[in-house]
Amino acid sequence: MKNTILITGGTGYIGSHTAVELMLAGWDVVVVDNLCNSERLTMERVASICGQAPHFVQGDIRDAVLLDKVFASYPISAVMHFAGLKSVGESWQQAAHYLDNNVGGTACLVAAMERAGVRRLVFSSSATVYGQPDAVPIPESAPLRTTNPYGRSKLLCEDMLRELQTADNRWQIALLRYFNPVGAHASGLIGEKPSGVPNNLMPYITQVAAGKHPFLRVFGDDYPTVDGTGVRDYIHVVDLAKGHLAALRYLEQEGKGITVNLGTGSGVSVLQLVAAFTQATGIQIPYQIFPRRPGDVASCYAATDLAREALDWRAKLSVGAMCADAWRWENLVKNMQE
Ligand code: NAD
Ligand code: UD1
Repeated sequence: MKNTILITGGTGYIGSHTAVELMLAGWDVVVVDNLCNSERLTMERVASICGQAPHFVQGDIRDAVLLDKVFASYPISAVMHFAGLKSVGESWQQAAHYLDNNVGGTACLVAAMERAGVRRLVFSSSATVYGQPDAVPIPESAPLRTTNPYGRSKLLCEDMLRELQTADNRWQIALLRYFNPVGAHASGLIGEKPSGVPNNLMPYITQVAAGKHPFLRVFGDDYPTVDGTGVRDYIHVVDLAKGHLAALRYLEQEGKGITVNLGTGSGVSVLQLVAAFTQATGIQIPYQIFPRRPGDVASCYAATDLAREALDWRAKLSVGAMCADAWRWENLVKNMQE
């Protein structure tokens, strides 16, 4: 059997795109997912893209017996850990559940890795660990602070993994701080499927385009930004997935861990993203200005020097490609629902 990467949360949005990139690069992949926010069908879609399906184990990363079985069954050399809950709003209502799933789940996973002697890990962190940034672009050395239980769970995981690496230098851990992942695979076969009404901007725009909502609510037009609307660092999910392969290469070659931002380094406002979507698809997005969303920051985008220098990686896909690919995927979702 080939060298295998274990992907936790691999039927989810970012995990499935990373499974594709790993398999296309020749890796064998085993996915563990409890399907709490994704579908088994995604593995068949990954197979259509790659010509071969990843191994799939339905189960929870908090199940130590199951994890031991997985490590005993496959020649796993590294783990990419995506499994987690990610809704900021939900994390206020279910703080204990978020801690248990995200922090408890990560602790259970690293304990199983330790038992199996697999100490190479790529972890999905988030720019949310920077909270309200003092300045943009945000370097990895910026102060860490969080504004909600979801963010706190990510920071607690980072702290745990930093501690582990400091205590035992056999561990090689990449903490990847994602900015705003958007878009979908160019095949239109895999993408993000928000449950209920989306909170995030891009899926809301595609749903307005699909006629599921009459207009976009633009949360605030009085920020100190180019046009008064919030500025973010949108990154194409395929670029993000490739960033994981670059991080894995870094761990293998350098034999030590890294904490790095994965973003484009460019800020795009809400209205700029709306205009880019119209340009890419020809579809007008009606919008209305609403008050600011509590907890939002004016501007958030990454300093990308470290990713370029250490990982030899940079995001390449344009905002137009992000919009076109997100729209292609929305059409597939729409057709499935009809
Ligand atoms: P997603 O919900 O699409 O994927 C997460 C997957 O993990 C799902 O398939 C879910 O079923 C699975 N899962 C959750 N808890 C599990 C458990 N206990 N055991 C087994 N499987 C479990 O989310 P995503 O957007 O692909 O995000 C992946 C990771 O990246 C998450 O950790 C998230 O916090 C982080 N992240 C996401 C974003 C974003 O905007 N999407 C931004 C920054 C960080
Ligand atoms: C949100 C989360 C953040 C998470 C990130 C990626 C909050 C407060 N923050 O961040 O923790 O890591 O998603 O999943 O929820 N906007 C609108 N109308 C909409 C939706 C959004 O105007 O219907 C605006 C927002 O005000 C913001 C921008 O679009 O200025 C981007 O919003 P969003 O996609 O939710 O991402 P973040 O705010 O970066």
